[in-house]
Amino acid sequence: MQHLSKLTQDIQKAAEIIKSGGVVAFPTETVYGLGADATNEKAVQKIFMLKNRPCINPLIVHVKSMSHAKDIAIFNDDATILAKNFWPGALTLVLPLKEHNIIAKSVLAGLNSIAVRSPSNLIAHDLINCSDTAIAAPSANPSGYVSASTYEHVYEHFHNTDVFILRDLLVNPEIKTHDCLYGIESTIIDLTSYDPTILRYGFITPEIISEVLEKEVKISSSLTAIKAPGMMLKHYSPETKLRLNAVNLDHNEIGLNFGDSKLISTFNLNLSISGDLAIAASNLYYMLRVLDNYAKQHKISQIAVAPIPNISIGLAINDRLMRASN
Ligand code: TXA
Ligand code: MG
Repeated sequence: MQHLSKLTQDIQKAAEIIKSGGVVAFPTETVYGLGADATNEKAVQKIFMLKNRPCINPLIVHVKSMSHAKDIAIFNDDATILAKNFWPGALTLVLPLKEHNIIAKSVLAGLNSIAVRSPSNLIAHDLINCSDTAIAAPSANPSGYVSASTYEHVYEHFHNTDVFILRDLLVNPEIKTHDCLYGIESTIIDLTSYDPTILRYGFITPEIISEVLEKEVKISSSLTAIKAPGMMLKHYSPETKLRLNAVNLDHNEIGLNFGDSKLISTFNLNLSISGDLAIAASNLYYMLRVLDNYAKQHKISQIAVAPIPNISIGLAINDRLMRASN
């Protein structure tokens, strides 16, 4: 009970900060977000500065509900079906921007579309409600680095700043290692043209979306054209190098296993011993950070990662790993 009332107070405090133009880090069911009032230009610019994020990279706007999203974006039939099926939840819709909206220019980075999502995490949901505005929020990590799925990750990056970090006081750290249920960013789907197109893989897979829309969805060439590291921007990257699809360990490597893979050395972790892709996704950033810290402390030169099946949620894991190994 005590935790609950402290959490309620923290959410109210965070909402006041958002309303007065400050920045708050908050848990969502995907990863932690670094949020500000999406209608306040100065507040939004603080996010870009804190993350050292290029201003050409637009932000996702977090809303209470579909009707809230309709204040800023134009919904077609597919968008309505997807929001009805997956919101609140880990699906971001890229939609045409409504004319005469009050969204800050920097959120959009010059585009005439907008990315919107209604998160299911109750803290995120309450924060948006109490702030009484839409919240622009990228993942709460320095640009290019591994995303944050725990309070401690966010604290590590932003404790020296004015950012107020909301913590899920109801999570028992002895039972659960991360505050974000899925641990990997939302799926992004672009609905601005005739064919719905996946722009980022996530927990909600292309197959599930196809099934709900009763039609094929396209996969953006920015996902399919990537055959090798070096073909894309560095993203989600630990400081230690990654070697993917490893079947043995080389000298001076530590291992990130999956299922019954056996990359065994002085220190190694397993994304999911039972080979469950959802569990693996939820552990991915947490374990990359643990291995990165260990490698830096023990002068290990590389993290070797076992093969992950490239199906279902494995598409999202492999996409993140490929970019992280860049
Ligand atoms: O799960 C998530 O989506 C998390 C949580 C905090 O909600 N947020 C997140 O934000 O991952 P961020 O900024 O790290 O990634 C958002 C991605 C960026 O790659 C950005 O380029 C893309 O969304 N994006 C934003 N607006 C867009 C638009 N109008 N069209 C296409 N892509 C867009
Ligand atoms: Mg990000």
